[in-house]
Amino acid sequence: MNPLRCDQTPAWAALQALFEAFGRNFDLRKAFAEDSRRFESFSQDAPHVFADLSKNLVDDATQALLLELARQCTLEQHRDAMFAGDKINSTEQRAVLHWLLRNPALAPADISQPAAINVANELAAVHITLNAMLAYAQAVRADDAITDVVNIGIGGSDLGPQMAVLALDEFVLPCKRFHFVSNVDGHELAGVLKGLKPQSTLFLIASKTFTTTETMTNAHSARRWFEAQGGQDIARHFAALTTNVAAANAFGITTTFGFWDWVGGRYSLWSAIGLSIAVAIGAAGFREFLAGAHAMDQHFRTAELAQNLPVRLGLLDVWYRNFHGFGSRSIAPYSNALRRLPAYLQQLEMESNGKRVDMSGKALPFETAPVLWGEPGTNGQHAYFQMLHQGTSVVPVEFVAVKRAAHSPHELPGHHGKLLANALAQAQALMRGKEDAAGHKDFPGNRPSTFLLLEQLTPASLGALIALQEHRVFVSGAIWGINSFDQWGVELGKVLARDIEPRLASGNTDGLDASTAGLLARLRQRDLDA
Ligand code: F6P
Repeated sequence: MNPLRCDQTPAWAALQALFEAFGRNFDLRKAFAEDSRRFESFSQDAPHVFADLSKNLVDDATQALLLELARQCTLEQHRDAMFAGDKINSTEQRAVLHWLLRNPALAPADISQPAAINVANELAAVHITLNAMLAYAQAVRADDAITDVVNIGIGGSDLGPQMAVLALDEFVLPCKRFHFVSNVDGHELAGVLKGLKPQSTLFLIASKTFTTTETMTNAHSARRWFEAQGGQDIARHFAALTTNVAAANAFGITTTFGFWDWVGGRYSLWSAIGLSIAVAIGAAGFREFLAGAHAMDQHFRTAELAQNLPVRLGLLDVWYRNFHGFGSRSIAPYSNALRRLPAYLQQLEMESNGKRVDMSGKALPFETAPVLWGEPGTNGQHAYFQMLHQGTSVVPVEFVAVKRAAHSPHELPGHHGKLLANALAQAQALMRGKEDAAGHKDFPGNRPSTFLLLEQLTPASLGALIALQEHRVFVSGAIWGINSFDQWGVELGKVLARDIEPRLASGNTDGLDASTAGLLARLRQRDLDA
């Protein structure tokens, strides 16, 4: 299967022509005035998530051409190749099977014909590990002597678990505290350790590779602290979550939960990396989380493209990035519990699709991943929404709101209505704008947004929301023809840091550029950490 590059397809040319003729001047206000059913036709129900897409700069003709673009770029075949276990992560020669982590154990019908990898065998291994990990999580939950769980990991080994534990706060076991340490800046770990006792602490060392500098440095420091404070039983107080069990054992950790190279770091919260989530919400809650994501997987696999929410979102992303030229997308979760969602999505989108070459390494002549950014609503309104409403750049906004306040609502009346009213009002204001002769009070309006609505924030709906985001990133990556599953761009800095670190101690600047050498000399004028 060798599809045409997206910008060489007839659909791309037709979209370009449509954009020049009408798309550039598309007016949302007019579109709503002319079509009383616009909300219905541009909204989409998917498992656990309702999406209002009607405030986006698209009409039926654009949507039809975007779907045609998907077909001409063989999106469906690429999706099916992922679900068949093909090694679509070609630069690392790996299959992409994070979805298998949420596949029920006894659902062989869900599994496409094995291709490069025997998916059914992998599924059996997934469930053996899942059962072991959940049994361990339950034991930790029942262990009153453990009051603090510290997840040490970075990137996908931190952002997913941290985001999910915060998001599911009301389902979290109240008698334990959960901490997440990622930064190699010792202030972070030291700040957490200050409040801990070794006999009541469980450290989860989360690292796919078990080689990441930040995580290894923090893990060594945590163990030194543990031993210095009289802690003795490493097997009880340290567990490793990794594909590199041998390295964890060499570190001295015997309690290990493994996973597989076909799980990308930013897709790993469904694996053993999610152990902190499982301890926090329990085995049943974790299974619901997986089930919610699985429901979205099924939707992505089986729903027609025109009614497929990840497909519709991914195609809008392409429309905005490549035709409108919008360089960023703002995430606005109107839920304080989802406050780490923007950070999580940054890694998901930008580490997956922040690429400038195609699968074979050839440079691409068009833009790929937008910059993702955001803060929870309503806080963002009082910071950067000024720019969203009146700035010179158009930034599509993705609102995420939760209909029912909480499973066990907080005791503060009136808040949730205000929160939802603000989300609706901001989306409305972005679209409507407001004419005013005084330029500084004029709002251009016609600024696009998507509104994602969850009935309630539960393990299942969070799982579905995350899987939705994973698949929409897959869709735009597939259209662009890039490998969304490698991350070579993070390697160079790691290598250079390894070269620079000893130079900070020795002062050797041989071969360094003048700027790095100058900064290094300046830094050496001060005391450095040992
Ligand atoms: O450097 C980037 C990265 O490899 C991410 O892709 C990954 O999530 C993170 O580092 C952490 O990696 P690991 O889980 O192997 O420690």
